[in-house]
Amino acid sequence: MIKLTTPEQARRFVLERRFAGHTVGLVPTMGALHEGHRSLVRHACVQCDHTIATIFVNPTQFGPNEDLDKYPRLLEQDCQQLEAEGTTAVFLPSSDVIYPPGFSTYVEPPKVAAPLEGVCRPGHFRGVATVVMKLFQILPATHAFFGRKDYQQWKVIEAMVRDLNVGIEIACCDTVRESDGLALSSRNRYLSEEQRSRSLRLSVALRRAQQLADSGVRDVSRIEAEMRQILLSEGGVDAIDYARVVDAESLATLEHLDRPGVALIAAFVGQTRLIDNVSLS
Ligand code: PAJ
Repeated sequence: MIKLTTPEQARRFVLERRFAGHTVGLVPTMGALHEGHRSLVRHACVQCDHTIATIFVNPTQFGPNEDLDKYPRLLEQDCQQLEAEGTTAVFLPSSDVIYPPGFSTYVEPPKVAAPLEGVCRPGHFRGVATVVMKLFQILPATHAFFGRKDYQQWKVIEAMVRDLNVGIEIACCDTVRESDGLALSSRNRYLSEEQRSRSLRLSVALRRAQQLADSGVRDVSRIEAEMRQILLSEGGVDAIDYARVVDAESLATLEHLDRPGVALIAAFVGQTRLIDNVSLS
């Protein structure tokens, strides 16, 4: 596996393969890799001739009181995992390379970025859209792979690519979970054993939402109320940012589940903010 550190090196590496007629799959990450990231890499390896991962903890998507400083950095382990999965190359830029002195151009994120995370983490998707757009420029791949775990992020990137005519195909891969339902996340390592068991409420509440929808319940406020009850009852989470059922495409408010919807939760267990979601048909 080749390690690339400069944008020039990285772009040349991708273009050489594109000119040879090969497909290139891009897997952007912030590192501290787990089975969720590995599944994106595996999908990319199956679908594309070459897979390039990126590891960059992007400062512009973290708010002032968020976990940028303590975000886990495990570069050596990460590279071993990527190599084991068959990754062709990894791009490991420094912060100065991505945001050199004088950097001042940002991507204004699409409308789908406004609700949910957009309300709770102002500026987050501006940082995500900007860094992902930069990665698309530096690594002009044919395909890019994202996880459904970050549902709104996937929708933001899809809209950005469509609106700005970026010639890259966006693929979305299912959420990878522990056997008890907890969605894998780099932030799960912050959780104590007791907190981890309380974190299970997110997947329990989402499964209940799915069950209600499957059994014909169409009243969104009832589904949301049940999710909140499960999250907050004894032994549950410490605080809820949101527990909502919204339109699966626009993420706009829904009253009745009369079209595809998605249930999304963001909640705190201790200081750790967890997100998860499930599609409702
Ligand atoms: P990060 O949180 O490292 O996630 C990288 C990719 O892995 C994202 O597409 C995310 O949705 C996916 N992923 C995370 N947990 C997953 C799981 N349990 N199952 C399936 N996929 C999972 O998301 C980011 O980094 C950043 O915002 C980034 C896009 C790299 C921009 O900085």
